[in-house]
Amino acid sequence: RIRSIHAREILDSRGNPTVEADVTLAGGASGRAATPSGASTGKHEAVEFRDGVKERYGGKGVQRPVSQINGEIAVTLQGMDAGDQAAVDEALIDLDGTPNKRNLGANATLAVSMAVARAAAAAEGLWLWEYLGDPLKPLLPVPMMNILNGGVHANWQGPDFQEYMIAPYGAPGIAEAVRWGSETYHALKDILKARGYTTCVGDEGGFAPAVSTNTEPLDLIVEAIERAGYAPGEEIGIALDPASSAFYNDGVYNLRTERLTLTAAEMVDRYRDLVAAYPVIVIEDGLAEDDWDGWRLLTRTIGDRVELVGDDLFVTNVDRIDMGIRKGAANAVLIKPNQIGTVIETIAAVRLAQQQNWGAMVSHRSGETVDTFIADFTVAMQTGHLKTGAPARGERVEKYNQLIRIEEAAGDTARYAGRSGFVR
Ligand code: PGA
Ligand code: ZN
Repeated sequence: RIRSIHAREILDSRGNPTVEADVTLAGGASGRAATPSGASTGKHEAVEFRDGVKERYGGKGVQRPVSQINGEIAVTLQGMDAGDQAAVDEALIDLDGTPNKRNLGANATLAVSMAVARAAAAAEGLWLWEYLGDPLKPLLPVPMMNILNGGVHANWQGPDFQEYMIAPYGAPGIAEAVRWGSETYHALKDILKARGYTTCVGDEGGFAPAVSTNTEPLDLIVEAIERAGYAPGEEIGIALDPASSAFYNDGVYNLRTERLTLTAAEMVDRYRDLVAAYPVIVIEDGLAEDDWDGWRLLTRTIGDRVELVGDDLFVTNVDRIDMGIRKGAANAVLIKPNQIGTVIETIAAVRLAQQQNWGAMVSHRSGETVDTFIADFTVAMQTGHLKTGAPARGERVEKYNQLIRIEEAAGDTARYAGRSGFVR
């Protein structure tokens, strides 16, 4: 039974305020969780409530969502069974009463929802992943490590494409995969240094060099994989998140770095050429959040070869995922708990994707805390891959480190998803 709930305003990795909640049960067990925050936010995401009081944190304060938790939410959930996540989350959804959490804010509801799950797991003496999933079947995900940052995560100093990730799927387990990724990251650093590029990093810990095209990072990364001693394509693949909604305007895609303006069909041609030339196995948000026709064309063109992940397109929302399934747009869903605002709604999005044999890739946000909820969640949901930034910076590595701990504790029952973690 939930005895008390208490929230506070803390800082995220960008130095912006965010919501942290503590849930304590009658038996004394407790759980703590914090909500992350995006920068290239999809316009259909649930509402992240900010105070808008200019004198505090430039308007980004979260005192109101915090006081909602300490007031209304605490009163409503007090006495409820923390082990009944569905009932708790339904109560939050009802209390908010809107389709996009604009009353309470998804930053308020998610912190509470996750903290309740943590407290319930603690009460049973279980790891969070054991509590949320099948304790006999932990599936360790391929870490999708974002080693080169562009777009809004690098203040548009680098490429237009926001994320260049490596996927060490050929490794025998997660600890080894993390090592392969880290070695490749450091090889990339040496290569950038030798070419006279900066090795300063972007929001997710990847390097942010001022490259002159959006494909140059792919050449640099292939070279880094080889220099680290791995086989590009066979052992380590590449994933892209152009986050193209950010450079889509009036029906066209503006690639500032290359001084090009492309239609959706021209973007699709580019991606087709790109996956033919490089070991790219995943493209997330290759097209914009409302460009359904473009998405259908992309899926028809390379959907048989490449995992096409909708992030801003689906915003972890079952109605939008359902629309994608009906339209034949994409073949995988990015899963970000704070896009929807509760644990059960996040689980529903994962399950819908899995029922369709679509991919489900769990994800951090560019503004993060050291909260590792998504690491355990991914293992429990058996989604096969997790993107949570570079193998550097505390808020990013803490998730990977949690996966290493889980693999160690699970021993012989731990399986590493490897190449089967992808739908294509
Ligand atoms: P965001 O970016 O957290 O800044 O929205 C992550 C992504 O686009 O996947
Ligand atoms: Zn994205």
